[in-house]
Formats: sequence, structure tokens, C-alpha cells
Amino acid sequence: MSESALVALQGVSFAYEDGPVVLDALDFEVREGRALALLGRNGSGKTTLMRLLSGGLQPDTGQLSVAGDPVRHDRKGLTRLRTAVQLVVQDPDDQLFAASVAQDISFGPLNLGLPTPQVHERVQEALTALDIAALADRPTHLLSYGQRKRAAIAGAVAMRPRVLILDEPTAGLDPDGQERLLVTLDELRDGGTTVVMATHDVDLALRWADDAALLTPGGVRSGPVDAVLARPELLREAGLRLPWGIAARELLLAYDVLEDAASAPRTPAELAALAALRAGPRTPAEG
Ligand SMILES: Nc1ncnc2c1ncn2[C@@H]1O[C@H](COP(=O)(O)OP(=O)(O)OP(=O)(O)O)[C@@H](O)[C@H]1O
Ligand SMILES: [Mg+2]
Repeated sequence: MSESALVALQGVSFAYEDGPVVLDALDFEVREGRALALLGRNGSGKTTLMRLLSGGLQPDTGQLSVAGDPVRHDRKGLTRLRTAVQLVVQDPDDQLFAASVAQDISFGPLNLGLPTPQVHERVQEALTALDIAALADRPTHLLSYGQRKRAAIAGAVAMRPRVLILDEPTAGLDPDGQERLLVTLDELRDGGTTVVMATHDVDLALRWADDAALLTPGGVRSGPVDAVLARPELLREAGLRLPWGIAARELLLAYDVLEDAASAPRTPAELAALAALRAGPRTPAEG
């Protein structure tokens, strides 16, 4: 285990009751301050892995640890784990249950036994972080899907976790909703939260993450996102396609537009900026 591992699974195997082995002798780490994208085909075990990291499932063999300390799967150990690691499940309806948004967000801090003023402060902080202060008193079941997703994330943020784990947080959001969520996640990262996200979107992973972990039949393959997502054989194994940005990078390098891979554009806007730079300023006559 490396020194910067904030949460780690060592030698972890897991099978559901009467089910096949989902993860076998898995070593996995979440490194402090590194945004991590978890990718893999349907049924590859992303959700299972996230539930093992957040203590919702107990490994059959192997060990979960936080900052080097082994986690015990008893009441005390799991309560402690919840202050460090928070999981937001894919479907907000599996997470939200209280009458109003603010009540829902307050549930975790209340359960920690915090005094009322501190609970209130955390709820306000989470509402602001997710930009849903205007929804505080609304019943959760009357919110739109995107609003419910934000409310569910706010509930996890109110626990002030060191690691926030999000299972397909952008699925079902419109493009603007996705962009706004990425801005929110960047703000949380700037505030010191380590964020892990499961996604099927390789383009999103490339522009958002520092590192990628691919769940393949041969095991988990991890590394810097722009290296992992540039390996066609790994992508094939994981049922993924080449990200747009990597394909563009390879073309730009082949045509000597780029001198090195490090300066490759990660978004269409960055590619447009590069093109504008190469084309030089337009004269008024050209429009
Ligand atoms: N509660 C459960 N009981 C039994 N088997 C399960 C359960 N949940 C998941 N599985 C099985 O475990 C395997 C891994 O599922 P998991 O949900 O972790 O995959 P995933 O990578 O999150 O997939 P997706 O991309 O579809 O969300 C699958 O074969 C699935 O059928
Ligand atoms: Mg899943």
C-alpha cells in the first residue's frame, strides 16, 4: 500500500450470496487528493467495489483500511468509517427518505450526535455547496431527478467526508446539469475532498479525473487517466471506446500540430482554442 492511500482494499474477494465471485484478490487504493474515475462494463463490479470501500458490504477475505488503519465492520468501526468515506448511490430515490431536503441532509450529522447549531451549519454548508439552498424546505419526492441527485450528494457532503464516492453521478443529468455538477465537484476538491466517481463516460473521465481504474476480467488496471484510457486493448477488455480527447491527441501528434502529449486538448473548447491559435488572428474582411 502506498503512503498516500487514504482508503485501501487489500487482497479483497467478494461474492454475493449464491452469486458468482465479483471481485477476486483485489488490491485497490484511493489516493488522497487524486480525482479517481472507476470504469468498467455493466456488471463488472463498480457498484460492488464502491460499497466495499464505504463499508456497506464486508469483504469475504482481505481488508479495508482508512489512512492505514484497518476498518472493523462493527457498529463503532462503521460509524467512524462514515465520517471519512461517504457513498452516494446511483439512484437518488434509494438514498433520500426524509420529508424535506434540509431534513434529509441533517440526518447524517444528527446521527453523529452533533449539537443542533453544528447540524444546522453543516446543512447550510451542504445546501450551498450543491447550490440547492432554494430547495431546502421542498419535499424530496417532488423534486426533479437532477435536483434529487444534488440533494442526495448534499447529504453525503454534510458528513464532511475525506473521500466522497459517487456512483454514476452524471447519469440522467442534462448537459448543463452535468457541467454544473463537475463545477461543484471541482469546488469540493479545492476544499480538500478526495472524489471518486464511477462512470461509463470515457470523455468525462478523461477531462475530470487524475487517475482511472478499469475493472476488467483480468483484474483492476489503474494509473494516470490519460495513460490508462489510451490503451486500446484495456479499453476493449473493459467494454469502453477510445475517448474523444485521446483520438484527437493522436491525430494532432501525427500531423505535428502538437509537440508533446502533455499539451493535448481535453475538451472541444480547448481544441477550438488550439485551432484558433494555429490559424492566427482573422482580419475583419474574413469575418
Ligand atoms: N445484491 C446482489 N445480489 C446478487 N448479485 C448481485 C447483487 N448486486 C450485484 N450483483 C451481481 O454482481 C455483479 C457486479 O454488479 P455491480 O452492480 O457491482 O456492477 P456494476 O459494474 O456496478 O454494473 P453497472 O454498470 O450495470 O452499474 C453482477 O454480476 C451483478 O449481477
Ligand atoms: Mg453499478
